[in-house]
Amino acid sequence: MAEVTGTEGPVIETGALTMRFGEVEALTALDISVGEGVTGLVGANGAGKSTLIKILLGLLEPTNGTASVLGFDIARDSAEIRRPVGYMPEHDCLPPDVSASDFVVHMGRMSGLPATVARERAADILRHVGLDEERYRQMGGYSTGMKQRAKLAQALVHDPRPVFPDEPTNGLDPAARVDMLHLVQRIGRDFGIAVLVTSHLLGELEKVSDHVIVLDGGRLLRSSATADFTQHTGGLLVEVLGGETERDRLGERLAPAGLTCRPRGAMIAIDPPEPDVAVHDLVRDAAADLGLGLVRIQPDRAHLEDVFLTGGAVHV
Ligand SMILES: Nc1ncnc2c1ncn2[C@@H]1O[C@H](COP(=O)(O)OP(=O)(O)O)[C@@H](O)[C@H]1O
Ligand SMILES: [Mg+2]
Repeated sequence: MAEVTGTEGPVIETGALTMRFGEVEALTALDISVGEGVTGLVGANGAGKSTLIKILLGLLEPTNGTASVLGFDIARDSAEIRRPVGYMPEHDCLPPDVSASDFVVHMGRMSGLPATVARERAADILRHVGLDEERYRQMGGYSTGMKQRAKLAQALVHDPRPVFPDEPTNGLDPAARVDMLHLVQRIGRDFGIAVLVTSHLLGELEKVSDHVIVLDGGRLLRSSATADFTQHTGGLLVEVLGGETERDRLGERLAPAGLTCRPRGAMIAIDPPEPDVAVHDLVRDAAADLGLGLVRIQPDRAHLEDVFLTGGAVHV
């Protein structure tokens, strides 16, 4: 993780943070620490992600426990916290009869930017999130993807640190999801702004987060560097030219050599072999014997989904 600059200690820290809404306990004695870079906050719907973000913004008062952002205590300094932080809410918050351009300028002014600076920053940031000519149109006519971009732009206009995009990929089609995730990743990596981004989809956050925090029913399930979740399993993935038939022929040929093979999409996943087994040679020889074209042999890495779905801990 990148070095923390400008503050002593973590960007976000909570201690035994608990939030109850009547009978519902949305967060239970949560202890987390968030540093620089992109941190993914993941959990099924209702896990407590939005509640945590609202507490960190000082919009909700926790039932118990402590939290700080950039060293500011949420109980004492909530006005100080809201100034540097950028917030992209989960739900639609855009006035329909205003253009994205006017809205983002307005939000910049609200954050204390002088008028000319707010206009320049709004134009830059709207270009950056990919709203071009549409930015002069009323937002009521926007597609979901354009609305999400406008929501992200208003969270970034005042040069914030950190930024909390809450479910930024919600409602987007697969191509737009990828674009939005790249934007989020660039905020953290290229602009050096700490990001706490939420999603109920493990696979998405694994791609863009340096660190992942998993909530399950308001409790901390795990907090680790993404690389620790996605270490090499010791197995291999093999792809051959052709279709399922070719894939299965190769798998059947490898089984008698003592390799455990399973189909995974168009590929064959080979379980980690016994030590001293020359898997690469076995695969090459088997493909050559069968006259199959080898496309690739690559290390099989674990994915967040594997870690949690096999553990049965997170249901998404
Ligand atoms: N204002 C509220 N009043 C009552 N219950 C709430 C309120 N906000 C959230 N909850 C409940 O708290 C739990 C966590 O919700 P939330 O933080 O929105 O989860 P997530 O963002 O992970 O989907 C859910 O059970 C939800 O119904
Ligand atoms: Mg939520």
